[in-house]
Amino acid sequence: MDLHLSGRVAVVTGASKGIGLAVTRTLLQEGARIVATSRAGTPELDALAGTGGLLHVPADLMDPAAPAEVIARAVETFGGLDILVNNAGGPPPGTKLPQFGFLGLTDDAWRAMLEFNLLAAVRACRAAIPLLVERGGGSIVNVTSGHARQPSAVNVHYGAAKAALANLTKALSEEFGAQGVRVNSVCPGPVNTPWWTDAGGAADIIAAATGSDRATLMTVEAPAMMALVTGRLAEPQEIADAVVLLASPRSASTTGSEVVVDSGFLKAA
Ligand SMILES: NC(=O)c1ccc[n+]([C@@H]2O[C@H](COP(=O)([O-])OP(=O)(O)OC[C@H]3O[C@@H](n4cnc5c(N)ncnc54)[C@H](OP(=O)(O)O)[C@@H]3O)[C@@H](O)[C@H]2O)c1
Repeated sequence: MDLHLSGRVAVVTGASKGIGLAVTRTLLQEGARIVATSRAGTPELDALAGTGGLLHVPADLMDPAAPAEVIARAVETFGGLDILVNNAGGPPPGTKLPQFGFLGLTDDAWRAMLEFNLLAAVRACRAAIPLLVERGGGSIVNVTSGHARQPSAVNVHYGAAKAALANLTKALSEEFGAQGVRVNSVCPGPVNTPWWTDAGGAADIIAAATGSDRATLMTVEAPAMMALVTGRLAEPQEIADAVVLLASPRSASTTGSEVVVDSGFLKAA
């Protein structure tokens, strides 16, 4: 299937690892030109840079000025913007998830969570939408989380921030749809990314709590704890495929939607 992405210009946040890296790689394979942002590069992202259509712009999205600066680099380098993927999210700098319970979460923890998972995307959308309108339309894809739809005592502030991002997605789709701007979200369940698998990451935190080890946790215990119907965490490419389809004009009639790719984590109809 031709996704009609050749020559289109995309900004992808959180592009150096995990889901964002898979989105970046897939958009490049489809012929898009990309400004990829993260605080640091990775060998995997560097390997993609040789293809010519990719510019890595280092930025910390906790800086309120960063989203607009990154988007400005897309215009300078590639002449405009067609696609924005707000993928960066998860634990704010210096913190780890999962966190258990509500009472231990301070105002500072809430502020940092909302800054990274909601306000960075708000700022990116504010900078991107006039540029998309100028081109006659475009696509924004926000990466939310199953926690937004399945609140629990785990990651309370993260779930609330992602629920707000899902709400924003719908609101923007309503306001700017008539100008050709589509806004959708992809809602992953647990995904096999560095967030889980890095030393000291989510797998190690949960394994320490259950007396297990990282490998067993990833392959056996986590799928069981989260009642994953497929029996495994999703791979980043499986999330990226949904993101890229929504970014494509092949999804021209899809806006304001949330596409769930969650291994069967969510149980409500
Ligand atoms: N993995 C899951 O199970 C899962 C489940 C549901 C939803 N999600 C969502 O999917 C998205 C991607 O998650 P992932 O698991 O792929 O994450 P990941 O593997 O931890 O990668 C995070 C990416 O974001 C960048 N990043 C982190 N802090 C940043 C900051 N302050 N400023 C700019 N960039 C920053 C990282 O690069 P640097 O560290 O170099 O900045 C990296 O490129 C997130 O929105 C997350 O909430 C993930």
